[in-house]
Amino acid sequence: MNTPNTTWFNRHSSASFARLMPRLRHRFSAVPEPEWQAFAARMERHFPRLFIILHELYGQHYDFFYHLECILATAVERWVARPDELKALDAVRETDPSWYQSHQLIGYILYVDLFAGDLKRLCERIPYLKEIGVTYLHLMPIFKCPTGDNDGGYAISSYREIEPRLGTMDQLAELTRHLRTHGISLCLDFVFNHTSDEHEWAQRALQNSLEHQEYYRMYDDRALPDQFEQTVRSVFPDEHPGCFTYRSRIRKWVWTTFKNYQWDLNYENPAVFNRMADEMLFLANQGVEVLRLDAVAFLWKRLGTSCENLPEAHRLIQAFNALVRIAAPAMVFKSEAIVHPDEVARYIAEDECQLSYNPLLMALLWNALATREVGLLRHSLRKRFALPTNTAWVNYIRCHDDIGWTFSDDDARELGINPADHRRFLNDFFTGQHPASFANGLPFQLNPITGDQRISGMAASLCGLERARQAGDERLADLAIRRLLLLHGIILTIGGIPLIYAGDEIGTLNDYRFRDHPDQEGDSRWVHRLPFDWERADDRRDPATPEGRLFAGLLKLIRVRQNNAAFTRSETEVIDTGNPHVLGYFRQHFEQSVLVLANFTEQVQDIQAVRLRQLGLRRTQTDIVSGQLVTASQSLKLDPYQFMVLVRTRTPETPTSP
Ligand code: GLC
Ligand code: GLC
Repeated sequence: MNTPNTTWFNRHSSASFARLMPRLRHRFSAVPEPEWQAFAARMERHFPRLFIILHELYGQHYDFFYHLECILATAVERWVARPDELKALDAVRETDPSWYQSHQLIGYILYVDLFAGDLKRLCERIPYLKEIGVTYLHLMPIFKCPTGDNDGGYAISSYREIEPRLGTMDQLAELTRHLRTHGISLCLDFVFNHTSDEHEWAQRALQNSLEHQEYYRMYDDRALPDQFEQTVRSVFPDEHPGCFTYRSRIRKWVWTTFKNYQWDLNYENPAVFNRMADEMLFLANQGVEVLRLDAVAFLWKRLGTSCENLPEAHRLIQAFNALVRIAAPAMVFKSEAIVHPDEVARYIAEDECQLSYNPLLMALLWNALATREVGLLRHSLRKRFALPTNTAWVNYIRCHDDIGWTFSDDDARELGINPADHRRFLNDFFTGQHPASFANGLPFQLNPITGDQRISGMAASLCGLERARQAGDERLADLAIRRLLLLHGIILTIGGIPLIYAGDEIGTLNDYRFRDHPDQEGDSRWVHRLPFDWERADDRRDPATPEGRLFAGLLKLIRVRQNNAAFTRSETEVIDTGNPHVLGYFRQHFEQSVLVLANFTEQVQDIQAVRLRQLGLRRTQTDIVSGQLVTASQSLKLDPYQFMVLVRTRTPETPTSP
């Protein structure tokens, strides 16, 4: 990246702005003046940083200014096409930019086909989502993709067409409108690291269009691919080791980080940035409020590096962010970086991704269940949970992907844990091989060279419900449900947006039928991507069933979150409870201070009275989950896997002076 000095930039940025704006105004002369003024003000605010970034990335191109103008024109065009109701939402969000930090937010992730059949029928399921309290809905990819294997929709053939099985763009618009009237924000993926090989650009490239071949990363021979593969990891080693795929028709090696039909885009080409900015703003105009940026780590490549998390990847996202602030400010970004926690954190900023998955919390919650100890979880949270203002975590237990053990090796070593041995233990535990295990999980993508492995499975199976069912053992089933509630209790209260994976609210178990399916058998993630069982869901109303107990328990925890302002924002003070099996943290909001306690074992655990007093618990507290009263004069007992939220018991109103 070229980095001339600030004065140079300021001068050139203002000069470019002064030159480009009248040209754009002329091109879009139909826009009424007052509207244009408001837009121009946003442009003026965000242009300097956009200019700097684009110059860093593309300034060496002789036709840089041509590209810059094209990119700005894309922003104007998309803003002009933006529906009025979304422009109204833009205005609302601009006055409340950190709306996503609210404790009212409850996220839910689903596959449209597996949950409802198609977009139309999904509309009919909104009452179920409302029953749970969902206010943020993430639909797994719904755009056109190859038939057969398509990486669960993550191989996109057109960003403008819905996969015909699922419906039409009009139905998406209809759904989005319905969701908005019910106070539910839509989240969709922006799969922008790659397209499918059936995308028009890829098809043109296969027909030897040089212009389109430059949209991707292609090599005539193995010279460069061999060099890259010295330092780049294989994400899906089962599918193809290395990250290139040979296409005999054009006699070229194509960069394919993920599956061989997912072609990585070449962001060194400014035309690609512009085309993708257009696709992104098109998505924004469909009413997307949270855009999940898929596979952010891989956007940029440089020889001699891991080709993950390069500075240019951040700059690209920041440039996209600036365009959204200009042309669709109601939308925010969520980063999907399943990498080392230091790297995850680097994507989180108001001018990059306001939201980020929290893969560290996810992995360490599973770790705490397996080890029955909270040391690594506590240590890592203390170091890494705090975030910059106006950003938030998206906390989850399970999602459509595998569980990777992406904790920091240093954090582990600081506690005397050998990271490699420990990951082996976790894989043994969650594939059910370890004697202390209660889990039914499947291995995912064992890399024979590095020994790296991940885990697939539904939360309920990983928590022991599958084994309990097989054994017909009520006590084990009870423990499994307690584990599920414990994990959900934490993501609901620790700070950030909680995401529930469809089916987890009714304890859905693994589905092994993918093994009979030729397009799925090689990818164990399908064990946890299964049709929503509406019949079992009907049992949610029956407290005598495990589904009923789980569902009722979860609803109670959701209400605890939504009724207490202490759960807004991400500021959390993780404490030492004095008991290695009990996690504890304070949440504070103005006068309300709440202490959350979580027992990660199947035994009763104590917290000493003196410890409670040291933590400042003087008066009587109420556990708002169970209703139980707690005094600091005696030690506190937590039942197996008990999850407590202690709130100071209200004393009778004392008159306050005005
Ligand atoms: C993301 C998705 C994952 C997909 C990959 C490639 O990580 O979550 O499911 O395989 O990107 O698009
Ligand atoms: C890797 C990637 C992540 C992707 C996952 C799919 O962990 O880093 O982006 O979601 O693989 O399994």
